[in-house]
Amino acid sequence: MSAVTLRLLVQNAEQVVVICNKGEDYLTKGENGIKIHIIQNGSVVIGSDGRIKAVGPSDAIGFQFSRATFEHVIDATGMCVLPGLVDAHTHPNWAGDRVHEFAMKLDGATYMDVHRAGGGIHFTVEHTRAADARELLASLSSRLERMQRAGTTLVEVKSGYGLDLSTELKMLEVTEQARLTLPMNISSTYCGAHAVPKGKSMEEATRDILEVQLPALKERVEAGTLRVDNIDVFCELGVFDVPSARTILRAGMDMGLRANFHGDELHPVKAAELGAELGALAVSHLEEVTDEGIAAMARAKTAAVLLPTTAYILRLRQPRARAMLDAGVIVALGSDFNPNAYCCSMPLVMHLACVNMGMSMPEALAAATINAAYALGRSHTHGSLEAGKDGDLLLVNAPRWEHLIYQLGGHQELIRYVVIKGNVVYDNEKTLPV
Ligand code: NIG
Ligand code: FE
Repeated sequence: MSAVTLRLLVQNAEQVVVICNKGEDYLTKGENGIKIHIIQNGSVVIGSDGRIKAVGPSDAIGFQFSRATFEHVIDATGMCVLPGLVDAHTHPNWAGDRVHEFAMKLDGATYMDVHRAGGGIHFTVEHTRAADARELLASLSSRLERMQRAGTTLVEVKSGYGLDLSTELKMLEVTEQARLTLPMNISSTYCGAHAVPKGKSMEEATRDILEVQLPALKERVEAGTLRVDNIDVFCELGVFDVPSARTILRAGMDMGLRANFHGDELHPVKAAELGAELGALAVSHLEEVTDEGIAAMARAKTAAVLLPTTAYILRLRQPRARAMLDAGVIVALGSDFNPNAYCCSMPLVMHLACVNMGMSMPEALAAATINAAYALGRSHTHGSLEAGKDGDLLLVNAPRWEHLIYQLGGHQELIRYVVIKGNVVYDNEKTLPV
């Protein structure tokens, strides 16, 4: 190969966890479970365009790129390389934390008790409506940076604490600002149907979304002043029922948004069946999914985004990850970061998925990489270390990748570097005293 300058060489890693190497869009459980592809003693090359140029055994890469020069070289001796983690479900754009409600919930109040008493989402809506965009951007940015330090390089970000046109637009514009100012990859979701606003019925709220909010969004998306990728609805008893959710999701899909919504969290309302019927890319939560819903999602290739922190904090029944995997559903994971479930760490999410939901470590890692990327329509660019995809990865200071899940809540000491598009965006030695 002739002399060229490339952006990054990561060499001599104990393991390079490629995840999949045949351009798969997702991984489902075959007869022998989910298999992830690993190269022992490997290297990764990222080009000046920020994309992966090559991944392979260290000696072969060394030979192939012997005449190349690199802007940056990382000696990964003793470390493992993994794809950047993908967080398929978060609500990090808000003002007004709910630390006071945690004590109420520990005392036995349910999620809906708090919600009906005017707390929960309503509390956050009040504070988010009052906050100015600068304040929202500052807190969103610091939360996204915290996620990045825990290895996340692609994250879904929902609106949904406005529930009226001006605040929903303010939130989506703040998310767009974050996309323009931070290295993190963001998939932006309009979630105007996150709750029925105080003083409105579900029918009135649905009409407002269909007749006021979505048309205004469409105008901005078409004019190129705002980017929105997905549409979400909280489809739940006492929030938006299935017919309303269907109408809202269809209207969003008609304007080119991908349907990716909350369903079957507290009651088996048949949201999974709705997702499959619509050809939704994903349904999240699914603690109460029916067997028919599981079969329908498997057939329709609608991903199940499971959120172990929510079931843990609210002491809900765990989503039936094993039944979904056995049925061939594409299982993904998300942190569900929000003022109820304040967790920025996908390594912790994978740990909970393994211990509480019975997933294996390869299943959890596939769910937090390629399958989460699929749930966001991004598996062609993210979720595995394959040539042509974005050069997003993390290095863990351990000889086997499983330490990332095994070391409960320990990512602060374990993650050495996070890289996005070939640029080191986090170097642990520069933040932790040694
Ligand atoms: O995914 N269930 C609905 N939405 C969020 C919670 C949002 C909130 O409580 O602020 C969830 O858990
Ligand atoms: Fe959520």
